[in-house]
Amino acid sequence: MADKLVLVSGVSGYVASHIVKLLQESGYRVRGTVRSLKDAARIAPLTQLAKNPKHGLELVEADLVRDDGWDKAMEGVYAVMHTASPFPPIGADVKEEAIFRPAIEGTRRVLAAAANAGVKKVVVTSSIIAVVGKGGIVKGKKYNEEEWTDHTSEEVTVYGRSKTLAERAAWEFLDSQPEDKKFELSTVNPALVMGPPLMESHRSATSVGIMRDTLSNKPPFLPSINFPVCDVRDVALAHLKCLTNPGAVGKRHLISSGAIWFKGIHEIVGSEFNPQGCRITTRSLPNFLVRVAALFDQGVRMEVLPRLDEILELDTSRMTDVLGIKPTPMKSSLLDMAYAMMELGIVDKPAKYSGPKFSQY
Ligand SMILES: NC(=O)c1ccc[n+]([C@@H]2O[C@H](COP(=O)([O-])OP(=O)(O)OC[C@H]3O[C@@H](n4cnc5c(N)ncnc54)[C@H](OP(=O)(O)O)[C@@H]3O)[C@@H](O)[C@H]2O)c1
Repeated sequence: MADKLVLVSGVSGYVASHIVKLLQESGYRVRGTVRSLKDAARIAPLTQLAKNPKHGLELVEADLVRDDGWDKAMEGVYAVMHTASPFPPIGADVKEEAIFRPAIEGTRRVLAAAANAGVKKVVVTSSIIAVVGKGGIVKGKKYNEEEWTDHTSEEVTVYGRSKTLAERAAWEFLDSQPEDKKFELSTVNPALVMGPPLMESHRSATSVGIMRDTLSNKPPFLPSINFPVCDVRDVALAHLKCLTNPGAVGKRHLISSGAIWFKGIHEIVGSEFNPQGCRITTRSLPNFLVRVAALFDQGVRMEVLPRLDEILELDTSRMTDVLGIKPTPMKSSLLDMAYAMMELGIVDKPAKYSGPKFSQY
């Protein structure tokens, strides 16, 4: 299986870079798409992701909103990992026009090029938001891969709708294909991804921004919200397993190591870094203040209010039983992420820095 050529879309991204690293270290040949090859400083670290790869990373230009480059990118490709998609900062006021085209039309474009080129397998990076994003959590319910977000609901964010419609587009595209054009499709549906970034340019990734805020003591008070998380290395492994495990074909896969309160994240990161000189808060924001803020702030209204005091439970048995993934402990995900960000210069090292200390989970 190794030595086969795998195309990964959007390799400059936080998640995709781990997929590339793992594929290369597993012996695959990897071709990656980027929107532009011109930014040498951004491109150079991509060629250094894997330790002693058997094959170097090949890079090609392709944009999700344009046809150019995709047919050429698919030449000789055995499998595609379609990971590129805009992931705006949580709470940002994004317009549908900005992200629907690359997310939905882009997915159709990539899959059409894959079908034309006779690609055998496709793994699409979806999200739990295509499963659970109905706006408001049903108490006591354990969400599984049978569920779909209602993309018509006004309580679902623009990003949530983009991911739901993009994943639906992938399954519908496959259904619409004649037998000789069909490939094997799986989706990976991660929770909020945490874990070490591999490149300094990942400072702009939404996940990395969340940890940057924690390390810079922003926000100073924490709303009582809880969210499922997962490790970026487990997400990469899930993509690889979807490639190799026949049980993954035609299925969606929720990926999560469990749920954690916002305050819990600050407690874990604070106990490691406050003794080193950080000032990470664990002070709570009372619910009534969140409700007041929600009157004025759409981000709080859409992303925080529906989750106040709620725990979103996921059934991750496909991840453990079918893909065979034992999730990385949350503490390792959070601390490895923070240390990697300090080592990469994404955040300043605290005055009494004693790292780097990475977990051997
Ligand atoms: N991080 C999470 O918590 C999380 C959770 C669930 C699912 N996901 C999914 O995982 C995937 C990767 O997310 P990430 O966290 O790694 O975000 P990221 O670092 O922002 O990566 C997004 C990637 O998509 C590319 N992209 C965006 N618009 C594009 C376009 N028009 N044409 C070509 N490429 C385009 C970006 O390219 P540029 O570098 O050129 O902008 C970048 O490579 C996304 O599909 C996201 O929805 C992420």
